[in-house]
Amino acid sequence: MVGHKPIQNTDAELPDRQGFAHFMLKEIYEQPEVVRRCLAAYLKPDWDGQDASVLSTPFNLALPEQVSANVAEIQIVACGTSRHAGLVAQYWLEQLAGIPTRVRSASEFVSGPFPLRANTLTIAVTQSGETADTLAAIAVAKRRSPSDASLQSWSLGITNQPESSLSKAVDYIFPTLAGVEIGVAATKTFLSQLVVFCCLALEFALRRRALSVQDAMPLIGALRSLPDQIETLLNQQHEPIQMLAKIIADTKDCIVLGRGINHAIALEGALKLKETTYLHAEGYASGEFMHGPIALLDATVSVIAIAPAGTVYASMLANARKVKANRAPLIGITNASTQADHAMFDHLLTVPATDERLSPLLTVIPLQLLAYAIAVQRSFDVDRPRNITKTLLT
Ligand code: M6R
Repeated sequence: MVGHKPIQNTDAELPDRQGFAHFMLKEIYEQPEVVRRCLAAYLKPDWDGQDASVLSTPFNLALPEQVSANVAEIQIVACGTSRHAGLVAQYWLEQLAGIPTRVRSASEFVSGPFPLRANTLTIAVTQSGETADTLAAIAVAKRRSPSDASLQSWSLGITNQPESSLSKAVDYIFPTLAGVEIGVAATKTFLSQLVVFCCLALEFALRRRALSVQDAMPLIGALRSLPDQIETLLNQQHEPIQMLAKIIADTKDCIVLGRGINHAIALEGALKLKETTYLHAEGYASGEFMHGPIALLDATVSVIAIAPAGTVYASMLANARKVKANRAPLIGITNASTQADHAMFDHLLTVPATDERLSPLLTVIPLQLLAYAIAVQRSFDVDRPRNITKTLLT
């Protein structure tokens, strides 16, 4: 049994597994500390919402008021797991802050950039800050900046390597403070990207008055609770996930379903499964899955349904029922306490309750643990999966 271990700060961290069998597991267990560190850097501890000024927000984000007041559109460019962080962020930026946001794989953006609009903020997300496609995308975005000074544009980098090439290419940089990540599969850096994006979306939402202080307070409280909740989740789910991994290690295919903000987590869970276990895994928006891909199902295909309490819960359960009718082994990830609903799941992984809009920060963790446990079960080199490197420099 491996429990939570304290970690060293950022670059002082030693390349040592500190008692964990693999770096990936160590990095998954570092997540409570990483979230604590990010919140300590970006969220003011004593903000109580009493100052009504639009410039008073709970966040320490060095972004000029001119940007938050004028930004009309956001374009996010990134690859792989970082792109999935962008997809979660798209939901927050649009639904909380009301800013139209588009996300594109950096490699696709280069050949087909979004039509240029005035007052666009381009955000490049990259753990390493060196991914060639992401650097090329930000270069294209900057080259296309409007020559008319009244049509402003800005660039922001979100990276775990603030000294990287990315920082020289953008106007502003937000470090994700996750510490060194050695496992090729991104885990703690993904979670830290989400925390930074969430703070940014709430900052925009408050400054632009898209969200009232009263409505923001519960979300800020929920953010503050996250580190302890992640610790609880890791302690409670470690053993059940080990057992589940043994049961499904030989599954032929794995489908991960999510709706709304957890669609991106379905994509991320499937990516973690693919790159560490070499299983064929796909993430789908669960409503869309019913329009064709459901034909794939039989007793050899495992399905994971991400079903947090809230607006998507009933429709996720309705989709899960159809999956079950096709004999597919069904695994649920939920924080809902409605026991009667859970009977349909062959295996249930519970995560702590939180606001649905913050649920991706918790629902991704059982998927990381499951990918890790299946990879170990299948005796693969978890930290160095075949065919890929930590950073794609070309
Ligand atoms: O360093 P970056 O975040 O730019 O890397 C992007 C992708 O190569 C990376 O997220 C990749 O998908 C990970 N290995 C996923 O675990």
